[in-house]
Amino acid sequence: MATDGTPTPILTSDWKQAFRRRLRRWYAKHERNLPWRTSRDPYRVWVSEVMLQQTQVETVRAYFSRFMAAFPTVCDLAAADEQQVLQLWEGLGYYRRARGLHAAAQIIASELGGRFPDTVQELRKLPGIGRYTAGAIVSIAYDRPAPILEANTIRLFARLIALGEDPTKSAGQKVLWQVAEELLPRKEISQFNQALMELGSLVCTPRAPDCAACPVATLCEADQQGIVDQLLPTTKKTVYTKLHEAAVVVSKRGKVLVRQCGPDERWAGLWDFPRFEIESEGPLFSEQEIENKLAQLTGIRVRLGPLLQTIQHGVTRYRITLDCYQAEHRAGRLKSTNGSPAKWVTPAQLAELPLSTTGRKMATLVRGASD
Ligand code: ADE
Repeated sequence: MATDGTPTPILTSDWKQAFRRRLRRWYAKHERNLPWRTSRDPYRVWVSEVMLQQTQVETVRAYFSRFMAAFPTVCDLAAADEQQVLQLWEGLGYYRRARGLHAAAQIIASELGGRFPDTVQELRKLPGIGRYTAGAIVSIAYDRPAPILEANTIRLFARLIALGEDPTKSAGQKVLWQVAEELLPRKEISQFNQALMELGSLVCTPRAPDCAACPVATLCEADQQGIVDQLLPTTKKTVYTKLHEAAVVVSKRGKVLVRQCGPDERWAGLWDFPRFEIESEGPLFSEQEIENKLAQLTGIRVRLGPLLQTIQHGVTRYRITLDCYQAEHRAGRLKSTNGSPAKWVTPAQLAELPLSTTGRKMATLVRGASD
């Protein structure tokens, strides 16, 4: 550390120059044609980066295009109903991202006159925008110097310098942010930061990186030491918790019962069929439990029909076995469910509601069953 508080540089000038030159030349040939790269509109950059946070590029393509067609500007997004936003997000998961986008768009529209902030500091005041997303918007949209660090660049930088620390921990992150900062060129920062992510994504992949095709292999400490495969990233082993749940499609005169997930529930804001955890073992016991829990949750009594399907699915750290049942309404009036709205909807209305992924699967199953 120098006396003025600036950290001791990690990279030399010669190394940086060679790296930038080779990366730019490589990107000129290998840049993918992606829908969010057709303009430097900060709104488009923001939406794409939020979608890309936990989702593969190939999946994001179609979602991004649909989202932009529905909400071409930040003011369109701000004016939209949250349900409509969630519906366009359906299937992408991590729905908090969509709610954050919507909330931030409303602040930009109402408090900032629709003008997108152009500094990292201002952007970070908005919901859902952290250091990475702010850096991506400032560098990619405004072409101003701002470092970025996300999954692709974490891996790339960790290998380039043969990082000895865990890149997910704060000491490792501090070093990597410093690398990102030191690497920034003076001009064409937008292209440069995108090129870094592209190299991480296409060549410096998590498994079996293609070092033979890498333009900076001779500058890469991990490759030079032959430790690319042993190096981080450490993938943390998730400890999964098993859950047994049931969800019920209750029908009444051509309509089915759905409820909105409350703010503290999984899939907050989305709609779902009544669903609960099952504790009893064996189908006969669990059928009684399902009828009772459904009555507790919704106020109605049903005649439980057949088990439609058992779906295995994962949500965050849970591995869920979900038994999907069909049922007929027998008695009782619908009440709000755990404080959240519930309603009877037709198949056409169901198609318009944002549903959880398994909820959508069940909707297809009952359709198939009643066709
Ligand atoms: N991953 C995250 N952001 C990205 C971007 N802008 N291009 C390619 N991959 C990415």
